[in-house]
Amino acid sequence: MNAKLLMSITVSAAFALAMAPAQAEKAASNLDAKTAEIVKRDFRDKGIAKATRVNQDELQAACSKYVDKLPPKLKAKLEAKEAEAIKLPVDGKFMGDWKAGEKLAQSGRGMTWSDKAEDPAGGNCYNCHQLSSKEIAFGTIGPSLLNFGKVRGNGEDIQRYVYARIYNAKAANACANMPRFGHMGILSEAQMKDLVALLLDPESPVNK
Ligand code: HEC
Repeated sequence: MNAKLLMSITVSAAFALAMAPAQAEKAASNLDAKTAEIVKRDFRDKGIAKATRVNQDELQAACSKYVDKLPPKLKAKLEAKEAEAIKLPVDGKFMGDWKAGEKLAQSGRGMTWSDKAEDPAGGNCYNCHQLSSKEIAFGTIGPSLLNFGKVRGNGEDIQRYVYARIYNAKAANACANMPRFGHMGILSEAQMKDLVALLLDPESPVNK
């Protein structure tokens, strides 16, 4: 960082500190409005990526407003609303094929303007989680899921839990950093079942 920039940041920080709280709040909300205006101006429909994606839903807007620290009552209300919208598999089965699940977990493909609507998206799970012990490239935004089935079992309750968690992580934690794969139509029912199997099947490399 150059000295001039550092100086100007220091001066603005000092200025912000000197502001009365109400003034500071107003300045921040003006900045939020300006940012939203710029984002809306610069994002355009391109292929399957529509500019409407930048519009926040009620839950995202609340998480932005409270910087992910929702008042407990609002948090419970929003989580209940997300949970109500979860659609469990109609055949009552949650476990698919872990091999297909591993491919999905590896793939970060999908949802960009150069993808086609009919191309299936990937789950991108390794970007945030450790899963199989064989894969050493993984992100750490989310907790390690290595040995998930070994530790948590693989009965029907945990199968339903994992499916629902993949379908809509924000039903369990309103401002979770994990995408809502089912809720937002990123993954299909069959794909989410394959991921449940990846986490819970005793034969999956996650549990070996
Ligand atoms: C952008 C990061 C991100 C991605 C991508 C992501 N997750 Fe997560 N995941 C998280 C975070 C963060 C948590 C921690 C809990 C929370 O925030 O609510 C989590 C929690 C979980 C949990 C609950 C763990 C527990 O101990 O109960 C499961 C299961 C899970 N993720 C599975 C997946 C699967 C499967 C995928 C791929 C389809 C995936 N995640 C993709 C960030 C991510």
